[in-house]
Amino acid sequence: MNIILGIDTSCDDTAAAVVEGGTKVISNIVSTQTEIHTKYGGIVPELACRRHIEMIWPVVNEALSVAGIQLDDLSGLAVCNGPGLIGSLLIGCSFAKAICYSRNVPLLAVNHLEGHIFSVFLEEPKPSFPFLALIVSGGHTCLYRVDDFGAYRELGRTRDDAAGEAYDKVSKLLGLGYPGGPLIEKIAQKGNRSAIEFPRAYLQESFDFSFSGLKTAVLNFVKRNELSLTLKDTSRIAHHTSLNDVAASFQASVIDVLVRKTEWAIEKEGIRRVVLTGGVAANRELRKRMKEMGHEQEAEVFIPSPFFCTDNAAMIASAGYCHLNAGNIAGLDLNPKAYMPL
Ligand code: KG4
Ligand code: ZN
Repeated sequence: MNIILGIDTSCDDTAAAVVEGGTKVISNIVSTQTEIHTKYGGIVPELACRRHIEMIWPVVNEALSVAGIQLDDLSGLAVCNGPGLIGSLLIGCSFAKAICYSRNVPLLAVNHLEGHIFSVFLEEPKPSFPFLALIVSGGHTCLYRVDDFGAYRELGRTRDDAAGEAYDKVSKLLGLGYPGGPLIEKIAQKGNRSAIEFPRAYLQESFDFSFSGLKTAVLNFVKRNELSLTLKDTSRIAHHTSLNDVAASFQASVIDVLVRKTEWAIEKEGIRRVVLTGGVAANRELRKRMKEMGHEQEAEVFIPSPFFCTDNAAMIASAGYCHLNAGNIAGLDLNPKAYMPL
């Protein structure tokens, strides 16, 4: 039956999922740590890994019990071994190795970015190969050409901040809170996207991205206009028109660059299938704009449901299934890596 348990502890979510045949999600449990990190305005790595230690067993148990299976029913256990926060990755990897050793289950090592790409195979419609994959998350912004399972060519990546990181940092400097993406998206809906002309780093002739200049431009604008709210004042946000305009204009800048670069990649690679995934792909405006671009370019655009765009373990199990079929079994000396290109 090929039942894979997936585990992801790469960042601040403890996630476990059971997936059958690489595509059928039987259970998908994510325990977020938002309430722990919110007051610091970002993830505190030491607190993240301590929480993973507390949550890993309950989350895995829940994934198994919702699926109605036991460890002995597993065909394989897929764990994300990087890239990510090293302390957090260590918890998931050590836990996975212990189970695989004690129950004699094949261990499957999955790159987090490969997992994000495979989130698109958890739902219908599924793309056929080759396709372009734009991964936009808190830690990554990269564009790949995907010719098959295991055949990934990086076309571009961010040279500084990831798109989600820019959302989180701008949210912090506006005094909105963490994680920034959903908070900025919410107030941006009430703002004017053309109110402020923030820069767009198109980096001509390159598929690389850069968002740190945009972040600095927002900071300078806020300082000049004394716009930032303190956390105490968030009740006023809904009525704070200027702040809404900053959020909408910032978001427009990020989305314009992501969509335009994907459009160029469609033209250059001659591939008319695009997968958009990663936490920022949960953003409604980005989803809408990418689909509109696809329509204009006569390209198919595949975007997983928001729950599969953000970190989850079903995507890890899906990629793990392909590793199992390819006979790509990891040794029990598997080590996590904070930096691990696909
Ligand atoms: O993929 P993910 O869950 O974790 C990483 O691998 O990083 O992505 C998290 C990132 C955060 O930076 C968060 O602010 C951003 O995704 N994000 C969003 C939205 N939801 C989450 N960004 C923009 N709009 C959203 N609705
Ligand atoms: Zn991720």
